[in-house]
Amino acid sequence: MALVSAAVDAVLRDLEVFGRENDAHTADRNRKMLNLERETAELVHILIRTGNRRRVLEIGTSNGYSTLWIAAALGENGILETLDRDGDKLAEARRNLARAGLDGRVRVYHGAGTDIVAALPGPFDCVFFDADRVSAPDQLALLLPKLTRGCLLLADNALSHPDQIAGYVAAVEALPGVSTTILPVGKGLHVTCCP
Ligand SMILES: C[S@@+](CC[C@H](N)C(=O)[O-])C[C@H]1O[C@@H](n2cnc3c(N)ncnc32)[C@H](O)[C@@H]1O
Repeated sequence: MALVSAAVDAVLRDLEVFGRENDAHTADRNRKMLNLERETAELVHILIRTGNRRRVLEIGTSNGYSTLWIAAALGENGILETLDRDGDKLAEARRNLARAGLDGRVRVYHGAGTDIVAALPGPFDCVFFDADRVSAPDQLALLLPKLTRGCLLLADNALSHPDQIAGYVAAVEALPGVSTTILPVGKGLHVTCCP
């Protein structure tokens, strides 16, 4: 039995082909989709779904690949808020969510991550950091009062970009009572269980 419905999987498979071809032939990093590896996306989906998460924030939507995986994990009562500074990618993400029938449970915001994080009221029971990494510590500080007990924090690129993610890792590991690990999946998923 697949993790997601055939309709959602069809969109995901199309995005995987598009992302691979686009990113291989695009020199400008801003035009690359930089989607999660499928195995990382599956793990994020499973963590959110089995943890019964209901209010998720994603920082770094791109064209919606991980967004689809997260939205599909939420069920009818969950809400995913996702943001990106690139309006063209967000337009694609909106189209992809609608095509997969998941747009009803996703709010999409356009702008600088830290500004949007400051404005969103929360609460969040899961946050997925997948944007520029260096602004993640500031975003984490803004989010702290908006996190539920037992919140799950996820951040990609823990193994591929250890220098860039070091500030986030230091900030999160300094929080009282947290448990953290890095799962060696894809580019390395940093996982934090909040008390
Ligand atoms: C690695 S990609 C996200 C990939 C996406 N999560 C997926 O798996 O499909 C990073 C995205 O973050 C966005 N981004 C980077 N820095 C940002 C910032 N400071 N504020 C908002 N968006 C940002 C980029 O435009 C890019 O689309």
